[in-house]
Amino acid sequence: MGDKPVTIKEIAREAEVSTATVSMILNNKDKSISAATRNKVLAIAGKRNYIPNTMARSLVTRQTRTIGLIMPDITNPFFPEIARGAEDKASEARYSIIFCNTDDNLKQEEKYIEILTEKMVDGIIFAHAADSGEESFTSLNKSKTPVILIDRDYKNENVKGRVMVDNEKGSYTGVSYLIQKGYRTILYVAGAIITQTAKDRLAGYKRALQENHIEWKESLVKSGSYRSEWGYQAVEQFMNDHVSFDAVFCGNDLIAFGVIKKMKEFGIRIPDDVGVVGFDDIYVSSMMEPALTTVKQPNYEMGYRAVELLLEVLNNKNDNLDRKIVLNTELIIRKSTR
Ligand code: RIB
Repeated sequence: MGDKPVTIKEIAREAEVSTATVSMILNNKDKSISAATRNKVLAIAGKRNYIPNTMARSLVTRQTRTIGLIMPDITNPFFPEIARGAEDKASEARYSIIFCNTDDNLKQEEKYIEILTEKMVDGIIFAHAADSGEESFTSLNKSKTPVILIDRDYKNENVKGRVMVDNEKGSYTGVSYLIQKGYRTILYVAGAIITQTAKDRLAGYKRALQENHIEWKESLVKSGSYRSEWGYQAVEQFMNDHVSFDAVFCGNDLIAFGVIKKMKEFGIRIPDDVGVVGFDDIYVSSMMEPALTTVKQPNYEMGYRAVELLLEVLNNKNDNLDRKIVLNTELIIRKSTR
């Protein structure tokens, strides 16, 4: 017998059926085959430790049952939670995920798109790098691999679906809450303004101010990156520019952590002197001192729904609808606001 894996031909010979019959049974395409034959073949395959050759099957079916997931920053707890949701749904459907982290770097992003295309993934779920420009989709356009955008929206004809949150409404809710609590001079420390998420949050910030008859001033808005270091630097810049403020709306929770750290160094009391609201509600935000008031994103659900949508697209090849799923955010009130 030896250690060579048993072949379909050897199973057929022992079961005294054709190799076609064995192949149909092992690929669950055996509706026309008797239960007795199916059970005999499966018993032999089990006894002989048959392992399906998925690479060989992929060449025939042109399906690898593999999905590429490209995320921009694995060090930000927001994105691994997306990956968990995606992996859970993929596993339910017996698909596997290849996870790629681009570190918000465009060249890295292009490289991963090419690698995933060469590996013949069935589809790509993609949150683009924060330094992406138009050229970000060059490789995707060439590969024609179906793409579902997640979190960061983008215009591209190759996109077969989108799973986003309503960032404008989430931002509007967070800033309106600050105003409701009596704060009036509110900074917006934004992430990378190239991302649609940052732009939509700016729109929500402006709408909340305007609806409360507070003039919005460009001098109260700075954009940078979705990192804590940026929040720390932004507060330093505002203080050096002698900008007075009583609240800070942050582009994400990591920015809020940097904002709070710098304000504490200046002896500013949170929330009595300055209120702070974040965005994402990553798991550490509830354990910060003070615990962060923030706009919660359903990131696990975003990942789960993105895979669900991709599988729907794959099963409806001729359907060119560009489906868009928009999930809601939720304001989580903690101790960084009055
Ligand atoms: O925390 C990273 C940010 O970038 C999140 O707010 C997410 O929406 C993404 O755009």
